[in-house]
Amino acid sequence: MKRFHSSGDREFNPETLALGFGYDPKLSEEAVKPPVFLTSTFQFDSAEHGRRFFELAYGLRKPEDGEKAGLIYSRLANPNLEIFERRIAAWDRTEVGATFASGMAAISTSLLAVLHPGDVVISTAPVYGGTHFLLSTTLARLGIESRFVAAGGTAPAEMARLAAELGAERVAVLFVETPANPSNVHTDIKAVSRLARELSAAHGRQVLTMVDNTLMGPLFQRPAQHGADVVLYSATKFIGGHSDLIAGVATGGREIMHRLLEARTILGTVSNPFNGWLLLRSLETVSIRMRRQAKNARALAQKLSEHPAVKRVLYPSLLEPGSEQHEIYERQCTGPGSLISFEVEGGQAAAYEVLDRFEVFRLAVSLGGTESLVEHPMTMTHSDVESEQNTANGVTPGLIRMSVGIEHLSDLRRDLAHALGALV
Ligand SMILES: Cc1ncc(COP(=O)(O)O)c(C=O)c1O
Repeated sequence: MKRFHSSGDREFNPETLALGFGYDPKLSEEAVKPPVFLTSTFQFDSAEHGRRFFELAYGLRKPEDGEKAGLIYSRLANPNLEIFERRIAAWDRTEVGATFASGMAAISTSLLAVLHPGDVVISTAPVYGGTHFLLSTTLARLGIESRFVAAGGTAPAEMARLAAELGAERVAVLFVETPANPSNVHTDIKAVSRLARELSAAHGRQVLTMVDNTLMGPLFQRPAQHGADVVLYSATKFIGGHSDLIAGVATGGREIMHRLLEARTILGTVSNPFNGWLLLRSLETVSIRMRRQAKNARALAQKLSEHPAVKRVLYPSLLEPGSEQHEIYERQCTGPGSLISFEVEGGQAAAYEVLDRFEVFRLAVSLGGTESLVEHPMTMTHSDVESEQNTANGVTPGLIRMSVGIEHLSDLRRDLAHALGALV
């Protein structure tokens, strides 16, 4: 299946491309679905072919007109991953996609591909706990400095202020997680990307905007359309969608993705063929799943906001029209997603009582799967973040994070009411 219909030049929608684009059945006995290419290595037609494949793969020469990269070894590329990468890049409206062994592999490889000792990364906060640790500890050991600014409306201006303070020529990456996990705070991707371009123009070195799109993408937010250079995902979440795999994705323009793919080859952070096959299966239903999950979440967020023992509910459909957060959300998202955070009266003890009473929602970390999950960010997913930073980010003892699945809404409603019954 081609990207465009032969009756005109309009591109197919990603929902349609997810069912056929990037795969040629003729290469696999006309199988409608791609088989799993469980092979570590690929046979060359001749030594000359092998030499030419390596020249392209290692960037020793440019491809001739119409020449495609040949398959060599599954740490470099594999058909299942390649088909998935074409389809996820189409979702993101980017040129190239890359699949990684995990979301953390995607994030760490992307950063390591472009950073040098002495460089500075400015990131929004909160970010996922693993990303926070990578920036504040792992990269710090390599002489790379990370600074954090509060996610939200003030983030672009704060990033500009920090860049001026630290020496803008040292800034290499502006990192944004939006909406942030677990606070659901939105940061204006366009404003951050504009700042990156201004810094690049002023200092003659490319400053990249990288956006972790795990919570909204690929359906409800397309960061590249707002200027992001690299779009990152934990594909373990909505893209995989069934809580049965760990994977990561990066997408972006040809030039930057070439650097990321080179780093992936050398660091060996690539995913594997079976994961690629599972991701292809998952991408076929991502739109249906995410819409159903968002519908359930919207109804539960409303219920939570009406409950007397709930202090605050962090979810996009509850944002006040006219507020800065609402404006950013309206500009860059097309739906609210299905991650809700809410704070109960009574701190950690009360939160734990509620968590222990759920029967349909499973007490487990992760998010974006078909089943509903609940967890306690402060002592679980964000326990590797310094406590002052957690407090500043609103990750309080009473905060519960819930990922809403596709179960019947009435069962989820009943389960939530029962769990909150611990507090009244
Ligand atoms: C927003 C976000 N980014 C990245 C990650 C890391 O992904 P993975 O667990 O697939 O390495 C997570 C995991 O929870 C996440 O929530």
